[in-house]
Amino acid sequence: MIKTVEWTDAGVRFIDQTRLPTEETYVTCKSYEEVADAIRTMIVRGAPVLGVTAAMGVALGVRDSQAQDLAALKQDLDRICAVIAATRPTAVNLFWGIRRMKSKFDEVSAKPVAQIKEALVNEACQMLDEDIAANQAMGQHGAVLLPSNGGILTHCNAGALATCGYGTALGVIRAAVDSGKTLHVFADETRPFLQGSRLTAWELMKDGIPTTVISDNMAAAMMRQGKIDAVVVGADRIAANGDVANKIGTYGVAILAKEHRIPFYVAAPFSTVDLNTPNGSGIPIEQRSAREVTHMAGKQITPDGVGIENPAFDVTPHQYVTAIITERGVVRSPYSESLRALAPAAN
Ligand code: MRU
Repeated sequence: MIKTVEWTDAGVRFIDQTRLPTEETYVTCKSYEEVADAIRTMIVRGAPVLGVTAAMGVALGVRDSQAQDLAALKQDLDRICAVIAATRPTAVNLFWGIRRMKSKFDEVSAKPVAQIKEALVNEACQMLDEDIAANQAMGQHGAVLLPSNGGILTHCNAGALATCGYGTALGVIRAAVDSGKTLHVFADETRPFLQGSRLTAWELMKDGIPTTVISDNMAAAMMRQGKIDAVVVGADRIAANGDVANKIGTYGVAILAKEHRIPFYVAAPFSTVDLNTPNGSGIPIEQRSAREVTHMAGKQITPDGVGIENPAFDVTPHQYVTAIITERGVVRSPYSESLRALAPAAN
């Protein structure tokens, strides 16, 4: 399995997603500031792995803190968490990861400093294992929804590279293929950062799953030609009413799917569900650098001075979503009830 992120004694190690698919190289971040930079620069990206990355960044920062007592360590923890929280705003998993580390800190705060540090490292490593298990469970729940054979469209990368392994949307596809289904994946290239053509295609090719890359504007024609039997995508944040924030372009794909009567599935761990945000209008949308649009592979492709928009995500209203696949099961409309029913009693 691809090791998207890994805890090592030297630091947090990532496969460098900015260099794929042509170079498989790894980067070891030796401080929490370097982890924050890796998130900002997209060396690591994708909602579920950002949750675990945030936790590992916190664990690294706390482990290397010079604090001698609890109060000083808590001050360091708060500073580290603030730096990591300021990296990317949309994927709620990042904040979930930080919150979980803060709760662990509170839980073990009666212990000596060395043991607190150890507990935080263990917690982050446990979150990595849990993420892979959640993806595999999602795969089992979702595989049955896909046809025995046919074309599956996906957008962006919701695969092993967006998680700690196996993937959410691509986990569902992997599980379906493992169960004997004959599927052909159509990967939207996903302008402007090309997560589909660079990352989804790379990891599916590695697994030997038949894959065709299409540019984003080809999806409608493929659907009309009957080549797409289902759409499966991931999510960066799912509001309490089932509105889904995901990579820019997802909303358009959802509208196309509805028009062509093709099921549109969202696969995400429960840590992506934000019951505190009532609907999609409350989800912060990250604006990324204009350069991602004005340049391709380092070459300028737009005239100097032209206006540029680069929202990294859009929101698909819940009425376009056929079902949401989580590790706790598959839920359908009305999402305000079905999502809440998946939450533990205290949530
Ligand atoms: O900007 P990115 O590459 O971090 O955006 C990633 C996505 O939009 C994914 O589809 C989403 O995080 C789901 S990943 C399982």
